[in-house]
Amino acid sequence: MSSFRITRTLPENATDAALRADVLAGLTGAPKTLPPKWFYDARGSDLFDEITRLPEYYPTRAEREILIARAEEIAQLVEARTLIELGSGSSEKTGHLLDALAGLRVYVPVDVSGSALARAGETLAAERPGLDVHALIADFTAGLALPRTPGPRLVAFLGGTVGNLLPDERSAFLRSVREALAPGDALLLGTDLVKDERTLIRAYDDETGVTAAFNKNVLTVINRELGADFEPAAFGHVARWDPRHEWIEMRLRALTAQTVKIPALGTVVDFAAGEEMRTEVSSKFRRESVAAELSAAGWETTGWWTDSAERFALSLSVAG
Ligand code: AVJ
Repeated sequence: MSSFRITRTLPENATDAALRADVLAGLTGAPKTLPPKWFYDARGSDLFDEITRLPEYYPTRAEREILIARAEEIAQLVEARTLIELGSGSSEKTGHLLDALAGLRVYVPVDVSGSALARAGETLAAERPGLDVHALIADFTAGLALPRTPGPRLVAFLGGTVGNLLPDERSAFLRSVREALAPGDALLLGTDLVKDERTLIRAYDDETGVTAAFNKNVLTVINRELGADFEPAAFGHVARWDPRHEWIEMRLRALTAQTVKIPALGTVVDFAAGEEMRTEVSSKFRRESVAAELSAAGWETTGWWTDSAERFALSLSVAG
């Protein structure tokens, strides 16, 4: 028999409080910033799904290619009895891992979106008799409180989402995952790789404007949740490659001078004409730097696989 349950470690109003704090800090600072996690309401998640199917957006296809080719090999290296997936969303790519992990007993998808977890989790539990699905509604960037499940445990963090964290946040995150696990447990990490600027820019500024709509959606989220009056059409989508940090930056550029009211924060925010607000950092990696960062956080990297065009990598690391 399989089972499905959901545990919430986030208080019901935590999301609301975090959004307020982030918007207040980000829009009163200079330069203005907004954290990328607020892109993903229902419409933002749909737009991201659409992005993954764009001809320009290669990471999803590249990572899928690696998983299809290597899931068996990874499964033999880890023999996990618990698979924990961070930022699982719709759990689409996970099927390859679940198929390969012969001794798997428990699957723990972790996401801030309860609706995505409920949909994906129930389907999975129904499709895979013998698998316990214990979904966790949690913000895994704020420390991981995992249920007691059988080891060895494998944590999968796919999609290259680790690249959305700034370097300091990233080292704290890798350390916190290590601390939540036992020696011998493992981490499977998806990282997009440094490549030519043109390919990178196209992936974040596609021909049909889906990424532009995804970027502007964060304004719609703030309008709805905080009663703000952002005019999405008054902002332009900007994607830049920062060669020093080796990351893509998405920004929203105020096309004219404007003032935005944010009633839930009791404040107004002025934008100068041409002012740019950073909405996302998407870091691109190199093999040596990934291994070094993991090592500094208590992980020993034992596997490294790329797609045939070497655009994206999966690394496997063992907790020391
Ligand atoms: C879901 C974080 C991996 O950074 O490539 C896609 C999000 N942003 N297009 C990425 C995203 C713009 C994506 N991640």
